Amino acid sequence: MLNANVKDLLNQQVNKEFYSAYLYLDFSNYFETRGLDGFANWYKIQAQEERDHAMLFYQYLHNNNESVTLDAIAKPDKVLDSDMTVLKAGLEHEEYVTSLINGIYAAAYEVKDFRTMQFLDWFVKEQGEEETNANDLISKMELFGSDPKSLYMLNSELAGRTYSAPSLVL
Ligand code: FEO
Repeated sequence: MLNANVKDLLNQQVNKEFYSAYLYLDFSNYFETRGLDGFANWYKIQAQEERDHAMLFYQYLHNNNESVTLDAIAKPDKVLDSDMTVLKAGLEHEEYVTSLINGIYAAAYEVKDFRTMQFLDWFVKEQGEEETNANDLISKMELFGSDPKSLYMLNSELAGRTYSAPSLVL
């Protein structure tokens, strides 16, 4: 049995990760409408990764004989009125998710739940990578976004992103 608070936070994270998937699908939706298919691809794959994250939390709870409650997923609430707004919303969201992961880690640490801390180690590293990716996208857009040819090339680069399953297997 997991500590009740740790269990609740892990269960909430299932929902938060599915929300992240839904949010990034909305970002992809924005870029599809803009005609920037590479950006749309990048965020569609991001959405797939978020679903994977949700399922890792789901499976971890079941592997520990805990039930999972599936709550309603909130409507994506970011105002997407420019390319840069979307990219910055992505970074802001990842920083928020990092704070959530850190919060679960702190709760597990408090009750000496070393198993959960070890499980979360992968997510701590993943959040570092996701914030870096979001920052890199913003930097590239700042450098190249105002020039149509450069934007075309950046879009082509992002079209090359392919999905790969998470390295963490439960
Ligand atoms: Fe599941 Fe983008 O953090």
